[in-house]
Amino acid sequence: MAEAMKGLHRSHRCTEVSNKNIGETVTVMGWVQKSRNKGGIIFVDLRDRSGLLQIIFEESDCGSDNFAKAEKLRSEFVVAVVGNVEARSGAVNENLATGDVEIRATQLRILSEAETTPFQIEEGSKTREELRLQYRYLDLRRPDLQKNMILRSKVANVTRQFLSEEGFIEVETPILCKSTPEGARDYLVPSRVHPGNFYALPQSPQLFKQLLMVAGYDRYFQIAKCFRDEDLRADRQPEFTQIDMELSFVDVDDVISVNERLLKKMFEESIGIDVPLPIQRMTYAEAMERFGSDKPDIRFGLELKNVSEVVANCSFAVFTGALAKGGSVRGINAEGQGDMPRKKIDALVEFAKGYGAKGLAYLAVEADGSYKSSFAKFMTEEELSALVAAMNGKPGDLLLFAADEDDIVFSVLGALRIEVAKGLDLIHKDEYKFLWVTEFPLLEYSKEENRYTAKHHPFTMLMEEDLPLLDTDPGKVRAKAYDITLNGTEIGGGSVRIFQSDVQERMFEVLGFTKEQAYDRFGFLLNAFKYGVPPHAGLAYGLDRLVMLMTQEDSIRDVIAFPKVKDASDLMTDAPNVVDEKQLVELSIALTTEDEK
Ligand code: AMO
Ligand code: AMP
Repeated sequence: MAEAMKGLHRSHRCTEVSNKNIGETVTVMGWVQKSRNKGGIIFVDLRDRSGLLQIIFEESDCGSDNFAKAEKLRSEFVVAVVGNVEARSGAVNENLATGDVEIRATQLRILSEAETTPFQIEEGSKTREELRLQYRYLDLRRPDLQKNMILRSKVANVTRQFLSEEGFIEVETPILCKSTPEGARDYLVPSRVHPGNFYALPQSPQLFKQLLMVAGYDRYFQIAKCFRDEDLRADRQPEFTQIDMELSFVDVDDVISVNERLLKKMFEESIGIDVPLPIQRMTYAEAMERFGSDKPDIRFGLELKNVSEVVANCSFAVFTGALAKGGSVRGINAEGQGDMPRKKIDALVEFAKGYGAKGLAYLAVEADGSYKSSFAKFMTEEELSALVAAMNGKPGDLLLFAADEDDIVFSVLGALRIEVAKGLDLIHKDEYKFLWVTEFPLLEYSKEENRYTAKHHPFTMLMEEDLPLLDTDPGKVRAKAYDITLNGTEIGGGSVRIFQSDVQERMFEVLGFTKEQAYDRFGFLLNAFKYGVPPHAGLAYGLDRLVMLMTQEDSIRDVIAFPKVKDASDLMTDAPNVVDEKQLVELSIALTTEDEK
């Protein structure tokens, strides 16, 4: 067999050839995008990860052998071409980076032939995603995905460079860990050597990075794979990547400051977007009150208004009933939407129900000041005008109200304002609005487990002034926790950590662990805290989510080389899959499911 690359050295990637090279001989290599035989002259679009370049074959330039080979070229053949750079003989192609040049081939070597691909390799493919994922290596040839992967690499690079310059040390932490259930469900790995025992894959390097602070590493970072067995959504994968960091001798402002500079550099150098500093901050309480969300999209208004007091004594039972149960009545004003057709309003009501609402009360203020409303008949003229005034309602506006427990009202109206904004085209997709959300609640009550669980994680420090509340009203305790959000998505989160073993033990107690249980699970951390711990804090970004927002993709799968689908399977390799009986025996595992038969 001939040595494929003998005597050949690539001189340029396709789009590195430009009109500056006219007259030069170049060697290019790549895939045939398209080949057109015009009889006596063959045009080939050659593609590599940089883009396309037009090659021309004529027998008088390349000889009959090479021309005969060129006649055989089909899409996705891999070839090497030696040729001379010329100005484009035909019309200049404005759509191509190399649209004003072409290569007149003198030599052709076919490096690999290709069968007809199951779908065409093209930008903006309309092929259904399942098929593309099954042949992901072909899908990854498409320029859009290549652009995303290259950008992802760039973001990782800029991050490494910046954090290294800032004195962060990159340390790898284990993938085979101890299961410390608290948070999402763990992925487990059976141990062969210790029958019946399991490792867990890390949900994040959280405990290890804190131990690195105990060990004196001062500033740590890692671009780390994390694993969480949770239900997948458009912005969630079972394995994903964090840009993870931890710093010693710092408080909230120090973490925020270094991360603002990181974000600025990242967005500037990756996509040329300027991030004005400082980034706006908002407490969790304010974010919920104004936007009904702890990750508000602040590119548009449509803020929530609490009208509970205004309707407290009205005669509309839906409103007063919710208030009587300790809930609230809040609304948004869809300005200028008073003439929204009934069908569209009904669609909004259904949308609200999808978020747990029992209904959605609406009131349109007509041009003549009269109302078109689902509940006006239950209220007096005075009550209605007070309500409209509280909402700053003008003729032509549409007011939408939810009445329920606060949690539901926030989640309904938080989602509704985005839905309404989409319908009104209020969201500018090229705008990047960052927001720090601070002072998250430390705990949230789990009705399922009948106890408080940590909202962020059990190692998060509380705000010192809220310490007394830990005994009296734990739900009200605020944490020194912060999220960084971008355009309504949480891209990162972190906190100042508890570094005193007594506070950490107290925290486990509040979470319902006995001292024994706490030591059983987290003893290595609690013990470490006995030997001198610097105050420390940190943060982790979801790299996939960051890149997804930078590329304006709708799905996280479009920025991951080999992603998983909704049921957490990989359509290309067919993982997960059954394993040999022998492997199971080695692991002392007996299956109990139907599948084993
Ligand atoms: P947290 O759990 O908030 O914090 O995760 C940090 C960031 O990781 C991203 N992320 C995900 N991305 C894709 N798929 C998922 N399933 C997924 N889950 C989370 C999000 C999120 O903001 N150890 C702490 C950080 C710290 O306190 O320093 C942690 O893991 O963008
Ligand atoms: P009903 O009396 O149930 O027909 O409801 C009258 C109006 O109030 C309808 O427009 C319902 O969609 C709306 N509605 C019902 N429950 C709620 C609620 N919890 N919050 C807001 N509006 C509601």
